[in-house]
Amino acid sequence: MSMEPNNRRDAFDRRYFDDPDYPPGLKGGDEVRGYGYYPDYFPVVQAQLAALAEITSGGTLLDAGCGKGALAEYARRELRLHTVATDASDYALHQARQRRGGQFTVAADVIALPFCSQAFDLVWCNGVLQYLPGEAAIPALRELARVAGQAAFVSNIAACHRHGEWGRHDDLTRLYLTPGQWESLARRAGLHALALPFEGESAILLLAGITSLSAFRFVDRALELMRRLGALDRDPPLLAHFIRKCRAAKA
Ligand SMILES: C[S@@+](CC[C@H](N)C(=O)[O-])C[C@H]1O[C@@H](n2cnc3c(N)ncnc32)[C@H](O)[C@@H]1O
Repeated sequence: MSMEPNNRRDAFDRRYFDDPDYPPGLKGGDEVRGYGYYPDYFPVVQAQLAALAEITSGGTLLDAGCGKGALAEYARRELRLHTVATDASDYALHQARQRRGGQFTVAADVIALPFCSQAFDLVWCNGVLQYLPGEAAIPALRELARVAGQAAFVSNIAACHRHGEWGRHDDLTRLYLTPGQWESLARRAGLHALALPFEGESAILLLAGITSLSAFRFVDRALELMRRLGALDRDPPLLAHFIRKCRAAKA
């Protein structure tokens, strides 16, 4: 059954985050931290954000579409990033405000962020754009890039999940794109973007003030941290292609 547009915002209410039966088969049981849909996913995201903060020396972060605020709290507590979190769901905002630094949580749609250009060194947007209608993807990418001084990390559901449990049961996800397709969209928007080789998700980096070489260092470091956290057991198949692209961009 497909969801009517006016119900979509409410869909990200309590049942999405806290009801183990919604949507069936997608909850991983770690709802306390707010990263329930895959039990082993939080260390992956932790590693990615820690790596990006490290290679850019960014001091400020926007977590756009923060959900229950788990990553924003991690960024503040462990990475010492001055972090603002935004979301469109009242329930998510309420939850995110209970966390450390939660007073810096703002209601905002990702396609209209209430911040000036380059307001943050780093911008994070994980698992949000996949819920937009296709025509909103380019404006959203532009908006994320606009507020990023150095880089914006944008990650969405992997395209292959369309044909798995996720696609069968989740009636909210609209965009199942590969990293290359996200990169093409970003380039059509006039942005400097690089598809990232991480497995299980469809991630790109929008390069505002950093180079492809920095992007390579980011990926390399993120994979190393994932390994240390026990969240990686093999090099991603797309890694060699990514390295070639970074080298070509540098040449
Ligand atoms: C799958 S959760 C991801 C939350 C968090 N980023 C994470 O990685 O766990 C999707 C989040 O995106 C939010 N969201 C969906 N559409 C949005 C929009 N147009 N603008 C802002 N937030 C949106 C939802 O309210 C929800 O909190």
